[in-house]
This record gives sequence, structure tokens and C-alpha cells, in this order.
Amino acid sequence: MCGIVGYAGEVQAAPVLLSGLEKLEYRGYDSAGMAVYDGEAIRVAKAKGRLQVLREITEDGAQVPGVIGIGHTRWATHGAPSDVNSHPQVSVSGKFAVVHNGIIENYLQLKEKLMKKGVAFVSETDTEVVAQLLEYYYKGDIVDAVIQVLRRVEGSYALGVLCEDAPDQIVAVRKDSPLIVGLGQRENFIASDVPAILSRTRDIYRLNDNEIVILKKDSVQVLNMDLEPVEKQVCHIDWDVSAAEKGGYEHFMAKEIMEQPKAVRDTISPRLRGGRVVFDEISLTAEQLRSFRKIYVVACGSAYHVGVVAKYVLEQNVRIPVEVDVASEFRYRQPILGPDTLVLVISQSGETADTLAALREARRLGAYTLSIVNVVGSTIANESDDVIYTWAGPEIAVATTKAYSTQLAVVYLLTIYLADLLGRLTPQQYADYIAELEALPEKIDAILKNRANIQYLASKFFNVRDVFFIGRNLDYAMSLEGSLKLKEISYIHSDAYAAGELKHGTISLVEDGTLVIALATQRTLFDKMMSNVKEVKTRGAVVLGVTTSLQRQIEKEADYVFYIPDACPMMLPSLSVIPLQLFAYYVSSMKGCDIDKPRNLAKSVTVE
Ligand code: AGP
Repeated sequence: MCGIVGYAGEVQAAPVLLSGLEKLEYRGYDSAGMAVYDGEAIRVAKAKGRLQVLREITEDGAQVPGVIGIGHTRWATHGAPSDVNSHPQVSVSGKFAVVHNGIIENYLQLKEKLMKKGVAFVSETDTEVVAQLLEYYYKGDIVDAVIQVLRRVEGSYALGVLCEDAPDQIVAVRKDSPLIVGLGQRENFIASDVPAILSRTRDIYRLNDNEIVILKKDSVQVLNMDLEPVEKQVCHIDWDVSAAEKGGYEHFMAKEIMEQPKAVRDTISPRLRGGRVVFDEISLTAEQLRSFRKIYVVACGSAYHVGVVAKYVLEQNVRIPVEVDVASEFRYRQPILGPDTLVLVISQSGETADTLAALREARRLGAYTLSIVNVVGSTIANESDDVIYTWAGPEIAVATTKAYSTQLAVVYLLTIYLADLLGRLTPQQYADYIAELEALPEKIDAILKNRANIQYLASKFFNVRDVFFIGRNLDYAMSLEGSLKLKEISYIHSDAYAAGELKHGTISLVEDGTLVIALATQRTLFDKMMSNVKEVKTRGAVVLGVTTSLQRQIEKEADYVFYIPDACPMMLPSLSVIPLQLFAYYVSSMKGCDIDKPRNLAKSVTVE
């Protein structure tokens, strides 16, 4: 996600901002910029690309002199990476400069209102709306203007604001996106995260939602939305920089597992309006959607496993035939495609070579291509007819977790949207699905709070040689993902099997002590799964069951059980994947593997 740094002090601000932004590079970004008050006006320098580009165009900051400023590294959400979409975003007169981390969910409505009042916009970003609104409501008091804006924007934000009329102060505020205050000697800072300021101070305030900061070089005021002072405790940071980049977690993968409730919420909530699923971002019309006779889902690795979930849930709810393919096979099997076919392409990076090649083949054959991508402006996103972005933020660990979970969330949204369009849902079913979607982040959070139980189970099995994951229907799809997670970061051999297939050969591999992880969350298939558990138990297997809290009879058959909260069958994959991610993580950690950078693997496989 984006990185924010702000400085008010006595040395040149630009070098401090550049150095702070460098410490936030791990968060992933596609452009960078800064705004510095030079004694007369706010000077802005910003560009698409790495921080090095910003260093070059500002001669390491020499071209933007001044002792107060705000800086930003942008992870694009609204508007592809470009110079004009980079932050800081400025108001039409240049009076306000704004840096932002988060998503303004109602930015389109606010932008339309301002444009009707004659405000000219230059960027595609949601953040520019904040800058223009500040100028629109400004009557001489910068904090009052900020309050006016906060009353109108919806969504998540960490904001840093510089105003030419108040050049000795930075005003900052946060809601859902992190922001800290650094407390120095005759200098103070704002930052998205601790690493940005560790070289200058280890004393910070952690801001809470809706706390407003007025920051000067020799004072820091924290106010609530009623402008009453808020007492803050100084936190002293004793982390080293490397630990700080991971937010105090030992690995990026751990941090990203824990970020899943927020990532899923950020992906779902902007697409729910008035109890309805809305996709402002796609041009696909209802008529086109009704014309599709078949859907293909094409992806690689974990994204392919999301595709397997998509096959089950789309066919069950939309009643259109769905085929799912690994991209490297799809493009060489002469698929039968045409204008009546929808090809759903799923990719976190948006740069996977096999998936990109499959997309191009689908377009060549005349199919309509809709991609689900996490990186804004990536090649797959740009070459698809339509794209739905997952707002997981940058995913650093090679093993995907939060991006995977947000891809599932988009599949549910799309399923509800398409099923409703084709008249497959009653109003009650629709409303129930929406309620289930909205409850997902809290249920994921509840499982994460119970992660010590998974750590205990991992401690019993981290030395095993083989692990078999088994499941039926959606639980089979989850077995695939659980097996891959374990293999790719712990190097333990593992396989996933449709539980009904065991008796057709695989069960010959089961012997005394073989670990079998049985996913039995799907109510209608629970009894069948218990039969499969009995099958492997009688051959000596040790069984770890994963099921919902309503199916406690599993304890009669399985040796160990991990319970997940109940949910509608379609959305149980979002819950059952969490213990599987954690199991792989803890096993790998206990084996001392390189969790974030597993051997032989890359985060984005851009070669075929
Ligand atoms: C998942 O943990 C793996 N790192 C890998 O399978 C990944 O899902 C696959 O390479 C696809 O990547 P993409 O989503 O960026 O296209």
C-alpha cells in the first residue's frame, strides 16, 4: 500500500522525505513524489517509477528547498501509475497539497458534484478529490476545512495536508489506514510506518481513527473530531529496521496473513452500496452477461485454485457451464471460444507469463476477457476487456495469502452479481449473501485470534515427510491450496486429492502415521467425508480435520480438529484457507525455512 512521510523541522525537508520514503519501499509502489514549502509557495515534484526517478528530477531534493514537506510512494488503486496520478495531489489553485494512503469509496460522487461547480480535475485519482474539497471548503482555517472534508468522504484514509496559508504546519488524520507521529528535537514527523523515521527518532504517537494532528517543528497537537485535545502516550520503538518493515512480525507472510480481514473488507465494501453489489469499474453490460453460454477461468498456482472455487460457486449459483484451466495448458489445447464465452483471468501480479499468454489467446479467439488483478495498471489488467481489482495492497511474501483471499471475495461478488442478473436469486437469498459477505472479515479475524491452536498442531507435525489433503467439492478446491502452501514454503511433499478418488489408487500410499488433513466444511458432504476419514484411519493415517463449529461429530473420527466459524457453503473457503495458511507458516517456521523467499520460487513468474 502507499507510503506517507511528512517533516517539519530546521533542516532541508526533501532529503529527509526521500530517505524516509526509501525505508517504505518494501511496501511496494509504482510512483513517488513530494511537496515542500519553499518560503513562498508549495513546490511539488513527482513521477511514475522508482524513487531514483524522483531523486534525479529533484537532484536529491536540492530543487525543492524548504524545511517543511510531505512525501509519498503510491501503490495505485484508482488511476494507473503515471506522473499526473502520483501524489501529492494539489488543489486547483495549488494552495493545498495532499498525500493519501487508502481508498475514498465515494470519490466519484464527490468528484461529479465538484465538477458541476466548475472544479477542473487533472488526475484519475480518488485523492485529488480530497485536495479539491479542501480548497472548496476552506474559509481561512485549515483544520476546519479538514473537518468539513472528513464529514463527506467515505472509506479508508491516512492523509497528510500542506496548506500555503499555514506553511509552518502539517495537518494529518487517519481512518482505517495506519499513521504515526514521530517526535524529534525541534523536528517532528508523520509517517505510514515506523521504518520511515527510525533514523531520526524512536519516540512516536500511534494515531487512532479520527484523530487529527497539527504538527509543527516544535509542537504536536492531537485533536478529536470535536477539536478537543487528545492525550497521547509516547511509544518508544526498540525494533531494528528490518523488523519494523514487517510491522513487528517476523515475516512478511505473517503480516500479510494478519492483514486479511482488512484486505477482504477493502475489496468488498466499495462494491456494496445500499445492500446491492455494484461494479462501477466494468463496462460489461447485462445483455452481454446474459449472452454468455460458457465461462472459462484461467490462472496459475494459487490463483488457479481460486478458479476451482469459482467453477463450483458459479455453476451452483449462476447455472452457466464453467471450465477452469491452468493457463499453461489452456493456451495449447485449442479451446473453443467465441463472443459468447466469458474468460475470467485471475492474477495477483498481473504479469504471470502463462496467464498473460492465455489472455491473449482468449482475445485472439474473440472471447470477452475479465481479469481479477491486484496490481493496478499491470499488463494483464491493461490487456483485458474489463478488470476488477483486488485491494489487498502490495503482497511481498512469495506465498500468496491476502491476495488469494481478496480474489475469493471478488469471485463471491461476481457470483452474486451474475446470479441476480440471470434471476437465479430470490430477494431473501440475495440479502442473505450480502449479510454473509459483510460478516466475512470478522470471521476471518476470529480464526486469526485462535491461531495458537494451529501453531500447536504444527508443532506436532512439522517433521512429517508426506501430507495428504483431502476434500470434496469446495473442500477439494481448498485441499489444493492447502497443499501448495505447505509445499512451497516448508518443502514437505504434499498432495491434494478429491476424497472420493482415494479408493481409486492413492490410498495405497497411506500407511501408519501418514498425516491426512481432511477438509469437511461442506454440510451436504460431511457424512461422505467421514467415510473417507474412516478409510484412511483404518490404514493407519493420523487425521487432522478442518470443519465448522456446527459439525462437532467429527471428533468421533479425527485425531485432531480445527474448527472454523460457520458461514454459507459458498463462502466457507475464505475461512478454511486461514488455518491452512497458518499451518504451512508455522510448520515452515519450525523447520527454519526461508518463509518469505522460498527456494526456486519468484513472486511473479514472468517466464513461461
Ligand atoms: C502462490 O502462493 C504462488 N506464489 C504461485 O502459485 C502464484 O499463485 C502463481 O505464480 C500465480 O501468480 P499470479 O497470481 O501473480 O498470476
